[in-house]
Amino acid sequence: MAIGERIAIKSRREIELMRDIGHFTAEILLELRERARPGVTTATLDEYAARALEKRGLTSPFLGYAPGGVAPYPAVLCTSVNDEIVHGIPGPRELREGDIISLDFGVELRGWHGDSAVTIAVGGIDSEAKKLIETTHEALDEGIAQMVPGNRLSDIGHAVECRATKEGYGVVEQFVGHGIGRRMHEPPQVPNYGRPGRGPRLKPGMVFAIEPMVNIGSERVRVLDDEWTAVTADGSLSAHFEHTVLITDNGPEVLTRIEGSH
Ligand code: MF3
Ligand code: CO
Repeated sequence: MAIGERIAIKSRREIELMRDIGHFTAEILLELRERARPGVTTATLDEYAARALEKRGLTSPFLGYAPGGVAPYPAVLCTSVNDEIVHGIPGPRELREGDIISLDFGVELRGWHGDSAVTIAVGGIDSEAKKLIETTHEALDEGIAQMVPGNRLSDIGHAVECRATKEGYGVVEQFVGHGIGRRMHEPPQVPNYGRPGRGPRLKPGMVFAIEPMVNIGSERVRVLDDEWTAVTADGSLSAHFEHTVLITDNGPEVLTRIEGSH
């Protein structure tokens, strides 16, 4: 987080809009999950996501996104398969039985944003991959459980890291969660690691995208020549989950969770 950049507190009206956007994000992600089957290409999933946005009058904050002068992101969806951690670009790759895939999807409506990701199995997968997916999902939930007023920012990452390292997994440090609202990426950065009890105090009205990225092996990352696809340096499997979460007086409210979603 840039020094002096404050964490926005969303108004009641802004929260209402973010709830709607979160609902749309969850709905479309659920539809995409159903379609991630053996033989389907990742480009097909992206085309489906683009149509789902259009049908609802929504736009994509991913398409054309170009932070710091990198090549503009060319799709509305990130599809990261097996050793790909995040930001996999959809293309002609066909999914195969036994793959795992992270579907990472963002929605924009009237200048406001939602962001969520889920890692799923393509057909049957082995027990190691299953355990990685389950652990990463639990790590997300344990991070979210820390989002209560009065806690500090680093309590989130600490909880995520503890859950993942208990299994001997590597927690990616090169990419982090983030504030979200009027922009897809707002302050603060929300790392998935760290000592507890540090950083700003959490307050009702703050909204963060929490997104653990967990590798079976080393946490080290390599970015491919396409300037986006992040893969594990050691080729090990990686999982990624994300939710957009509002802090309320009564604790966390997961804006991108609906019946049936992660
Ligand atoms: N959900 C990811 C994030 O929070 C994806 C954004 S990268 C993009 O960073 F290029 F796809 F937009
Ligand atoms: Co995000």
